[in-house]
Amino acid sequence: MHTHYSFLVEELHKQNTKEPTTKLKQTFLLVLHKRYPLLTIGNISLPDFPLLLAPMEDVSDPPFRALCKNHGADIMYTEFISSEGLIRDAAKSVQKLDIYEKERPVGIQIFGANIDSMLKAVEIVEATSPDIIDINFGCPVKKVVCKGAGAGILKDIPLMVKLTEAMVKHTRLPVTIKTRLGWDHDSIKIVEVAERLQDVGAAAISIHGRTRAQMYKGEADWSKISEVKNNPRMHIPIFANGDINTPEKARIIRDEYGLDGAMIGRAAIGNPWFFNEVKSYLKDKTVTSSPSIGQRLEAARSHLKMAIDWKGETLGVLETRRHYTNYFKGIPDFKKYRTKMVTSDLSHEVFAVFDEVGDKFKNLAKV
Ligand SMILES: Cc1cc2nc3c(=O)[nH]c(=O)nc-3n(C[C@H](O)[C@H](O)[C@H](O)COP(=O)(O)O)c2cc1C
Repeated sequence: MHTHYSFLVEELHKQNTKEPTTKLKQTFLLVLHKRYPLLTIGNISLPDFPLLLAPMEDVSDPPFRALCKNHGADIMYTEFISSEGLIRDAAKSVQKLDIYEKERPVGIQIFGANIDSMLKAVEIVEATSPDIIDINFGCPVKKVVCKGAGAGILKDIPLMVKLTEAMVKHTRLPVTIKTRLGWDHDSIKIVEVAERLQDVGAAAISIHGRTRAQMYKGEADWSKISEVKNNPRMHIPIFANGDINTPEKARIIRDEYGLDGAMIGRAAIGNPWFFNEVKSYLKDKTVTSSPSIGQRLEAARSHLKMAIDWKGETLGVLETRRHYTNYFKGIPDFKKYRTKMVTSDLSHEVFAVFDEVGDKFKNLAKV
C-alpha cells in the first residue's frame, strides 16, 4: 500500500495542491485495483478477507445462517444436499433449498458422484435462485464416500475435474468447490488439483486443511492451503478452512498464509458473534468481550422464533435444542435451566425459561 500512497503524495506535490483532481483520483484507483484486484466469485464482489460460514449438516439451516449473517458472516453455505435426494424430490433435501433474501450471497451445496444426477440437481438448485452452487468434494462420512461422492472423489481426480467442468458448463451461476487436502497423507496433490479445477471454471475453492483419512483428527495444515494460493497460476479466491477458532488464527491465515478469506464452521456453533469478533480483531486488534447474557438470550429467542416460522412449532422447538448448550456455555449453575429448555416441547415454555434466565442472571457481570 505504501507505494501507492507515495504515488499519490508525489503527484499532489508536483501539482502543488493538497486536493487531488478527479483524474488523479481515478488513476490512483486504477493503480490500486490493478495491484489489488477486487475479490470476486463470478460477478459477486466480496469484501477484503471475507468470512464464510461453512456448510454444516443439521447446523447451517436458514435460522442459523440468518444469525451468523446478522453477526458479520459475509458468505453463507447451506448444509450439503444429496443430488439423488433432490431428483427423487425427497422432502428433506428439497427443504434444504430454502434461503432467506437477507442472507445473500448464499451458496447451495450439493454432493454426488454421478454426472447426470449432478446436472439434474444443478437445474433444480438453479431454479431456486441461489448466488452460488457449491460442490462438496470433502465429506469424509463412509456412506457418502463409499459411493464415490464427497471426499470419495479425491480417489478419482479425473472424475472430479470432469464433474466440475460439466457443472460449470451447465449453469449460469458461479460454481465453487469445497474439498480437503487429499485422500490421505500419501496422496496430497491439492496444488495440482486446484489448478485443474480453476482451469475448468471453478470460481473459488475452500480447502479444509485435512485429508479424508484424518477425518477431524489432528490439526488442520494451513501451509498446504497456502501452497495452492502461492501457485502463480492461481487467480481465483482460495479460502482456508479448518480449526479457525480464534480471531488470532484468522489473522494468521490472512497475514502469514496470505489466504483470501476464512471459512468458519465449528467455532460459530452457538457463537454467531464470532464473525464480528474476528472482524474487529482483524481491523485493529480489538478484542471483543464475550456476549452478555442479554445478547445470548436475544440470539436464542430469535433463533427459536425463526426456526418455528420456518419449520413449524414442533420441529422448530426440537431442532433449536442442540444450540442452547453453546449459547449459554460458561454460565454457572445453569443445568436446571438447560434441562428445561431441551425437554419442553412447547415454544411458549421455552420462551418462559428464557425470561426466567434473563431475570435470574441479569446481574451476572461477565460470562
Ligand atoms: C456438524 C458438522 C456438519 C458438517 N456438514 C458439512 C456439510 O454438510 N458439508 C461440508 O462441506 N462440510 C461439512 N462439515 C465440515 C465443515 O464444513 C468444515 O469443513 C469442518 O468442520 C472444518 O472446519 P472448522 O474447523 O471451522 O469446523 C461439517 C462439519 C460439522 C462439524
